[in-house]
Amino acid sequence: MKLFLDTANVEHIKEANEMGVICGVTTNPSLIAKEGRDFNEVIKEITDIVDGPISGEVISEDAAGMIKEGRKIATIHKNMIVKIPMTVEGLKAVKVLSKEGIKTNVTLIFSATQALLAANAGATYVSPFLGRIDDISMDGMELVRVIAEIFEIHGIDTEIIAASVRNPIHVIEAARAGAHIATVPYNLVQQMVKHPLTDQGLEKFKKDWEAAFAK
Ligand code: E4P
Repeated sequence: MKLFLDTANVEHIKEANEMGVICGVTTNPSLIAKEGRDFNEVIKEITDIVDGPISGEVISEDAAGMIKEGRKIATIHKNMIVKIPMTVEGLKAVKVLSKEGIKTNVTLIFSATQALLAANAGATYVSPFLGRIDDISMDGMELVRVIAEIFEIHGIDTEIIAASVRNPIHVIEAARAGAHIATVPYNLVQQMVKHPLTDQGLEKFKKDWEAAFAK
């Protein structure tokens, strides 16, 4: 399963990219706002760092506005993916943009029917939000499992991005449930790297080496 980084922080993107563990980036209006920087400027910098799909989200709420914004986002770089919210207007925009060859990521997916509609409209990616479903005491992973099953049975090539991923177990379970991609925050990449037995092992190698060879 591929990993994308879910952030608009370019330092974090550089670091994860240098580690070789991510092949794309997702942003959203909240993540861009958190950086307090201009959308186009941040997105351009991200496209200079990562050579893979970069999602930039539209702000408009009507189809015409989303289509206009989407076309503009697509001109920033060949790797741009237009992120569009799961609404009636969003589906209309996905239909038009996908016919023009512009790739889309339908976001804020909370049910399998929403995922099916987005795929039928021509979405390149659908993003079910696991963590936010878990937050309301429902099973986010079950949603990924059902979407993956439906897409598999019907040969739908829309890719599933497990989003709103909060912990390492989410990542592993999303992979087992059939998500093609998990988009993860930077702190989660750090958590995934660490294991106490790796640290202990490293410490012991160092001590043994020093005991034998240090003057
Ligand atoms: C995905 O594309 C979204 O940007 C993100 O995963 C949302 O995560 P959150 O629920 O932690 O805000």
